Order: sequence, then C-alpha cells, then structure tokens
Amino acid sequence: MTDNRASRVTVVDHPLVQHKLSILRDKRTPTKQFREIVRELALFEGYEATRDLPLEDIPVETPLTKTTGKRIAGRKAAVLPILRAGLGMVEGMLELMPAARVGHIGMYRDETTHKPHEYYCKVPADIDQRTCLVVDPMLATGGSATAAIEYLRARGARDIRLIVIIAAPEGIDAVLDADADVRIFTCSIDERLNEDAYILPGLGDAGDRIFGTK
Ligand code: PRP
Ligand code: URA
Repeated sequence: MTDNRASRVTVVDHPLVQHKLSILRDKRTPTKQFREIVRELALFEGYEATRDLPLEDIPVETPLTKTTGKRIAGRKAAVLPILRAGLGMVEGMLELMPAARVGHIGMYRDETTHKPHEYYCKVPADIDQRTCLVVDPMLATGGSATAAIEYLRARGARDIRLIVIIAAPEGIDAVLDADADVRIFTCSIDERLNEDAYILPGLGDAGDRIFGTK
C-alpha cells in the first residue's frame, strides 16, 4: 500500500474494541451477544469515522453568560447499511447521530461467483449533500462495498466513508483501487480470504450470526 492509500485506511484498535472483537469471532458467542457487540463496535467506529466532520459556530446562552458553541455544519449524515448484515450496525450509528438519515443498499453475494447482486436500494434524494457512512461488518473481496460505493457516486455522493468490522487485505485493495476518495474504517485487517472468499480468521457469516439464520 502506498502512503496515500494507507492514509485512507483507519484501524480502530482501541483495547475495548479488540476485546469485543475477540468475543465476536468466538464461534460459541450466541446470537443475542453477537448482535449487541456488532452494535457497540459500530458505535466505537462511528465515533472515529466522524472525527473530522465540519463544525460551525452557534450562539449559546448558559445560565451565566452568552458564549459561542459549535454544532455539526450542513445536512445530517446518512447511514447506509449494505443489507442485510449492515443492518446490525445501524442502531449503534444512530445512537451517535440520532437525526441521521438511513438509506438501504440491498446487495447479496452470489455463493458461487462471489459477485454482488443488487436487489433493493433506497437512499435519501439529496445524498450528494450528506456525509455517507456505509456500514457492513465484512469487507471480503470488496465486491459488495465497491458496488455500493459506485451506486452512491452515480447519485452524486461526494464524502463516502466505509465502516466495516473486519476487512481482508484483498477487499481493502479492491475498494481503494475502485474509488480514489473513499476512506475505510475497520476494527481489524485480517490475514486473507479462503477458497470460498470468506475472511480468515474472520468470524464466519456475519448476516447469519446477527440474525440467527444458521
Ligand atoms: C456479506 C457481507 C458483505 C459481503 C462481503 O453479505 O455482509 O455484504 O458479504 O463480501 P464481499 O466483500 O466479497 O462482497 P452477504 O452477501 O453474505 O449477504 P447477507 O448480509 O445478506 O448475509
Ligand atoms: N461475508 C461474511 O459474512 N463473512 C465473510 O467472511 C465473508 C463474506
């Protein structure tokens, strides 16, 4: 990875994040706890991913005096889960930004070809004016994330931040190759993909573990 590419990837490796990630990886972790931790990790990552949102001055009157405070400038951010596993990260993001808009990007990965298929997308009409926080726990080949980013760019999105919990090096390279500006936030960069394009060591199938479908 060149310097410029490295600067577009942030590993959120706070000790609390690493601790929770180990629980998430553990195959014995039950659905309820898995879901809770996905929500919590999204919150930690959302905090990092929004660190540089622009601010503007606002007048504030305290019980004692008038002063100048700050507020986030511009339109509310949009949280954009890639269905279905990305849904598990929405609640954590909305705890940080309760007024954020939520768009849905329906993609599933074909089990044989590993290529993404779009099946339902609905995002705010003025997405070009909002910070786009695309959430999905897993970045494997990068096919789903790249397709989601392309979809948003085609609708004018300018500021796109991809927030995942585990990324494979292959997926990071694919996303950075496909888009010159997107930034990636992840709790871990794992070793590699296996022959079924699952992340190793990973955590298995995130959607199945969040929704208890296997
Ligand atoms: C998983 C995951 C990502 C995608 C990652 O979703 O949540 O969206 O695979 O793989 P990629 O980087 O190779 O595209 P999946 O397609 O299994 O759908 P699901 O969320 O409905 O389980
Ligand atoms: N999707 C998942 O849920 N897990 C992987 O490891 C790869 C794709």
